[in-house]
Amino acid sequence: MNVYDSWRIAAMLDARDMIATNDVADADIIILNTCSVREKATNKVFSELGRIRDTKKPDAIFGIVGCVAREAGANAFHRIPELNFVLGPQSYHKLPMILDDPDTRLLNIDLTGLEKFDELPQMTHAPVVSYIPIQEGCNHCCTYCIVPYTRGREISRSFDDVMRDTTTAAKTGAVEICFLGQNVNGYKYTDENGKTFKLSDLIRATAQMPEIQRIRFTSSYPTEMTDDLIEMFAVEPKLLPFLNMPIQSGSPDVLERMNRPYSLDGYLEIINKLRNARPDIQISSDFIVGFPGETDADFEQTLDIARRVRYINSYSFKYSPRPHTAAALMPNQVPENIKRERLAILDNTLNEIQREFNETCINKVLICLYEGADKTGRHLLYRTPYMQQCIVAKPKDGTAPTMAEIKITAANRASLRGKFVLY
Ligand code: 5AD
Ligand code: SF4
Repeated sequence: MNVYDSWRIAAMLDARDMIATNDVADADIIILNTCSVREKATNKVFSELGRIRDTKKPDAIFGIVGCVAREAGANAFHRIPELNFVLGPQSYHKLPMILDDPDTRLLNIDLTGLEKFDELPQMTHAPVVSYIPIQEGCNHCCTYCIVPYTRGREISRSFDDVMRDTTTAAKTGAVEICFLGQNVNGYKYTDENGKTFKLSDLIRATAQMPEIQRIRFTSSYPTEMTDDLIEMFAVEPKLLPFLNMPIQSGSPDVLERMNRPYSLDGYLEIINKLRNARPDIQISSDFIVGFPGETDADFEQTLDIARRVRYINSYSFKYSPRPHTAAALMPNQVPENIKRERLAILDNTLNEIQREFNETCINKVLICLYEGADKTGRHLLYRTPYMQQCIVAKPKDGTAPTMAEIKITAANRASLRGKFVLY
C-alpha cells in the first residue's frame, strides 16, 4: 500500500514537471512516506527527518506523509520545526496546496476514506505491474495491529472506480494487476441498484482485458476466503497460483489473544479447497513471534503449521508493541532475546522450505514476467507465477520479452536461474 501511495505522490509531482533525484542535497521537495506497523521503522523516521533537514537546500520544502505522520500529528512540527507538511495516509492528495503556496504549513491527518481517490489526478502511464487499491482500512481489530487506527475502518471503492483505474492501467502499460487492500478479500461494494460486487467480480472483469496477463491480490484474511473467490483459482488461468493469506501464529491460544477467530482446522480446510481448485497453488504467510504470553509450546505450533502448509515467500516479524493497541497492555510480554531467538529459528525453517520448493522448480518451464536488469546489468530478472525471482542471461540480441517461457536450470534459497525456451 505504501509503494502505491509513493507512486501516486511521485505521479503528482511528475504532472507538475518535477524531475526525480536521488540526491537530497539537490532536491527542491523531499517527502518521506512512512509506516507505523512496527516500532523499528517508526523510530527511524525522526532521525531520518533530522538528517534530511541538515542536508537539504535551505529553501527546499520537506514533509512527512503516511501512518507515522498520522500518529505524530502536530507533534511532528514540535520535533522538527522546519517541516512544511504532515499528511496522513488518506490526505496526501492535499499535497498540491503546499506546492502552490510553499509558505503554508499543512497538517492533515484526517481519515477521509475514499476522498483521495477522487482527487488524485488520473494516471497517464502505468507500470508493467500495477497496484490497484480496492479497499482501505480494516475492521478486524487484531490486538497487535495499529492499522485500524492509522487507516481507519474498512471501506471498499466502487466497482466502476476500480474498473476505470484497471482499464486505464491496462491501456497504458500494465500487464499484471495486483489488487490491494489491508483486507483485500473483504472487498464488498453495493451500488445504487442494490447489486453487490465482490473481489471475484473484479477478477472476472479484469481477466477479460487482453492486455492483462496476470492477476493477483494481497493481503487476504483467512475467514473471508469465500467459495466464489476460491473458485476463481479453478476457472481463471490469469489469476496467479499464489496467495498471501497470513496465519500469524500456529497456536490457537495465541490466535485467540490476537483476536483472530479462526481454528487451525478451519484454516487448513481453506487451503485444502484452494489446492483442489488449483493443485499447484503456493501459499505465503506473515508470522509474528513473541506475541505476549507466547510459550515455547505455542512457538512450536507455529513451526509445525509452517512445515505442514509449506509456505513460501513469507514474512516473519518479532512482535512490536504499538500505541493504541490492546496487546501492548497485555501481561507476559516476551523478552527481546527470546523474540530474537524464535525469529531466527522460524526464518531458518521458512528458508529451508523455500529452498526445497525452489529446487522442485528445476527443469520446469514457467511463464515469467520481466522485471528489469539485475544490479550488475548483465542479467535479466524475471518473476515466476509463484513470485520467485528468476535470473536469466541477457539474450545476444539485447531484447527482453515482457512475458517469456523460461526453463529453470538451478535454484537456491533466494532465487532461481533459468534460460529462455525460445532463444
Ligand atoms: N508487531 C509485529 N508485527 C506486526 N504486524 C502487524 N502489526 C505488528 C506488530 N505490532 C505484521 C503482521 C501483518 C504485517 C503487515 O505486519 O504480520 O500481517
Ligand atoms: Fe491489522 Fe491485518 Fe489484523 Fe486488519 S487483519 S487488524 S490490517 S493484521
